[in-house]
Amino acid sequence: MKNTELILALDTENFSSAEDLLSKFKGIIKYYKVGSSLFTLEGPKVIELVHKCGGQVFLDLKFHDIPNTVKNAIISAQKLGVYAVSLHISGGARMIEKCAGIAKRPKLWGISVLTSFDEESFAMTGFKNDIASSMSMLSDLGVSSGLDGLVCSGFEIKMLRNKFPANMDIVAPGIRLGNANDDQKRIINPKKAKELGADFIVVGRPVLNSSNPEETVRAILKELE
Ligand code: C5P
Repeated sequence: MKNTELILALDTENFSSAEDLLSKFKGIIKYYKVGSSLFTLEGPKVIELVHKCGGQVFLDLKFHDIPNTVKNAIISAQKLGVYAVSLHISGGARMIEKCAGIAKRPKLWGISVLTSFDEESFAMTGFKNDIASSMSMLSDLGVSSGLDGLVCSGFEIKMLRNKFPANMDIVAPGIRLGNANDDQKRIINPKKAKELGADFIVVGRPVLNSSNPEETVRAILKELE
């Protein structure tokens, strides 16, 4: 079975709470996701902090703009030395190709349909097809344009795993240990994500809001063994 790595989402309020979290998991978790809320407030010093603690960064800013602007954003991310970045596949082939052409760049992970969508809320955005077929079309476009990985919910891991070669990273957020009572709709547990073939799982609130984050991380890592 494939090795599945945990990416901890550093969705903390500020730099100092990110520092607290990193000090807890230094040497235990290798990958950390820096998203729009912490990065908007604190900027590149968060990335330096992760690197200082020996970790690697998935910069999850979900870029979506004209090709030249996104290309320059990826070049900036490259200067920060991040491991991977996310970009919306719906930005189109030209946008992804421009980014894929950058030498020695971070991995490009494509966003298709967010895990917070269910069929009803997705239909309201104007897409004509259901989530699975939209995801299938978008992932074909993304992979043929040069992506290194696809972000998807647990519901689509199997389809994408079967469709693409083993070196295409499959990255699954929407991970829950029990039931979700929040904005995530298409959820799955760590063990199932591993069985289906995810390379990475992204976990935020189940750890951040846990009364015992260390124990929760231990439980997740055990499921991934
Ligand atoms: O707290 P939770 O475990 O839901 O966190 C999931 C993280 O993954 C959030 O930071 C969210 O922005 C991110 N994410 C996601 N769905 C995607 C891509 C990223 O939930 N498709």
